[in-house]
Amino acid sequence: MDDVKEILVKYSSIIKKEIDDSLSNIIPKDLNNASIHLTNAGGKMLRPSLALLTAQVVGGQEKDGLKVGAAIELIHTFSLIHDDIMDDDDVRRGQAAVHKVWGEPLAILSGDILFSKAFELVVSSKDSLGCDKIVNSLDTIAEACIKICEGQALDMGFEGNFDVNEDDYLDMIFMKTAALIAAATKIGAIAGGANDNEIEILYDYGRLIGLAFQIHDDYLDLTSDEDSLGKPIGSDIAEGKMTLIVVNALEKANNEDKEVLLKILKDENNSDEDIKIAMDLFNKYESIDYANKIAKRYVEDAKNLLDVFDDSDAKNILKLIADFVLIRDL
Ligand code: IPE
Ligand code: IPE
Ligand code: MG
Ligand code: MG
Ligand code: MG
Repeated sequence: MDDVKEILVKYSSIIKKEIDDSLSNIIPKDLNNASIHLTNAGGKMLRPSLALLTAQVVGGQEKDGLKVGAAIELIHTFSLIHDDIMDDDDVRRGQAAVHKVWGEPLAILSGDILFSKAFELVVSSKDSLGCDKIVNSLDTIAEACIKICEGQALDMGFEGNFDVNEDDYLDMIFMKTAALIAAATKIGAIAGGANDNEIEILYDYGRLIGLAFQIHDDYLDLTSDEDSLGKPIGSDIAEGKMTLIVVNALEKANNEDKEVLLKILKDENNSDEDIKIAMDLFNKYESIDYANKIAKRYVEDAKNLLDVFDDSDAKNILKLIADFVLIRDL
């Protein structure tokens, strides 16, 4: 885990510089401040780091993936700003959420401007990457953005819909989360000069670790604490989100337990005691272990996909990142 954290820290500074440059000339000042707020607050920079690594695993240079990777991080940051409005969450990356400081209208606009800047950033590397790669990259980002919107709509639509099953959940998290991680691994591959087959394999690697990433994110929402995670805990239960753990517990629970769990999920103002009762039920029905088992399978499948590539440092780190997705504590 330390190796992965070190590489993320190393890549973060070069990616942040790219993002800072891209966001330097926004006016008026309020919109500028709102737009740079989350990047200044930190973040793991997992997605752009993946782009730098997939560029290298196919034989390209780290720098090939830099601008396109930074563009993916801008899309991710835009999605976080809008997500906190949708999920009614007040804290992000250990700081007040953008809409809490600047209000919803400016938060919506700052998300929109990050979204637009991402496309501008990709186009700005047209001289170094060439038109074909730029078109392919723009297409990759556009497709991921469409998926995020669809996935976020499904995620909200699932609140209070207790008939959602495991396949519905997996489709939804592919769209809201895994599609962007897959776009990151694909865009790095494109920038690094991969052939179509390699691009497809790396997209699939990103998709699989992305699914595991969101399953683990749902787990952290239940078990971590706000100080270490930098975002609110128990928010998914309060919002009645259908996570894999919840879906599995509702499928297995007897009528009495099911009623208790449904009552907690429908309640927007859960006490710590409610969360504890829900956790006890998740443990009783082994739903946490179940979700973890599914996520582990995705991680193993993702690592196996990398076997086709020549051995390299980048390949080793991509394997470590696949494992990191499930052992990370933030
Ligand atoms: C949070 O993503 C949003 C999800 C898709 C679950 P990260 O956990 O990568 O957030 P940062 O960028 O490190 O803050
Ligand atoms: C993923 O879901 C969010 C996005 C696609 C932006 P969550 O709503 O679970 O993410 P967090 O937990 O707020 O980071
Ligand atoms: Mg959400
Ligand atoms: Mg959220
Ligand atoms: Mg979450």
